[in-house]
Amino acid sequence: MRIFSGIQPTGSKHLGNYIGAITQYVAGQERGEAIYAIVDLHATTVAYESADLREKTYDTLALLLAAGLDPDRCILFRQSDVPQNSELTWLLCSVTSFGDLNRMHQFKEKAAAQRELVSAGLFFYPVLQAADVLAYRANEVPVGDDQRQHIELMRDIAERFNARFGETLVVPEHRIPEVGARIMDLQNPESKMSTTGGSEQGTVLVLDEPAKIMKKFRSAVTDSGEEIVRAPDKPGISNLIEILAAVRGVSFADIEKEFADARYGEFKSAVADGVIDYLAPVRERYSEIRADDKGLEATLARGAQKAREIAAPVLADVQRAMGVGPLR
Ligand code: TYM
Repeated sequence: MRIFSGIQPTGSKHLGNYIGAITQYVAGQERGEAIYAIVDLHATTVAYESADLREKTYDTLALLLAAGLDPDRCILFRQSDVPQNSELTWLLCSVTSFGDLNRMHQFKEKAAAQRELVSAGLFFYPVLQAADVLAYRANEVPVGDDQRQHIELMRDIAERFNARFGETLVVPEHRIPEVGARIMDLQNPESKMSTTGGSEQGTVLVLDEPAKIMKKFRSAVTDSGEEIVRAPDKPGISNLIEILAAVRGVSFADIEKEFADARYGEFKSAVADGVIDYLAPVRERYSEIRADDKGLEATLARGAQKAREIAAPVLADVQRAMGVGPLR
């Protein structure tokens, strides 16, 4: 079983990234051969500061290590260090439908948010994502719910490639957790928590100080009524129940039962306490790991070396199947 996922080095990572994806990456190390990329090339598809990107890549790497990724038990690399990912992107374009790319929700949302240039890179973003996974013949892709459509597209791309050029690529499955796949913004529980599209007060960052986390939860928007239950007309409370269930590793029913007689205020403080305890060890480990730029760069170099060894023969198979590149 080979597992692959990618994470962008943009913004600061938030509770949604942590619960929906990062905990799954850590668990993946036990379940199979796990490969994770910090996708700096994806980050260049929207407006960004080139002077910051390398630093943000280190920030993201330090966070992943603090969360429990171990470079001896997984392959952890920077996307741009593995040219095979980029080259495969171009080759896969020949079996990617323009119409499908045009239907991607994230493209539409991000394109609408750009003030100046809507780059072609933003349009091709999902093909690069497909190449990331397909270059490693990964079986499983742990992600949050917002990546569902991108994974469907990568499956279509792999299937179309195999049908057109012969059985070459593995068609991967997504792995979306049952609890916590879509953590919502605390101020606007109708939209997902996000550092780019969400509200600052409604987005809990993994590295937020405990007092700040408490403040954000205390001011979380709740719904009418008093009952602490999950319901379609209670998006705020439902989100808080989901968060507490995820961080404690219990069911929604357990949380509803425990807080059956509680008031909203009391419940919000309990969720904050749960999240503070959950994130504390990560924040404590982070500073020390982040201080060592050289060590982080060495970790990335080691990961890239291993990644290239896997991706190079896959790319060679793709080239052979497509009739490009040298005669081997
Ligand atoms: P990124 O960096 O935006 O997000 C990283 C992961 O966090 C998940 N996530 C969430 N989960 C629950 N609730 C939320 N509110 C929430 N917000 C984000 C995302 O689903 C993601 O799993 N396109 C990818 C990066 C990527 C990738 C790949 C993923 C590039 N190549 C190959 C898988 C395989 C992205 O935007 O991640």
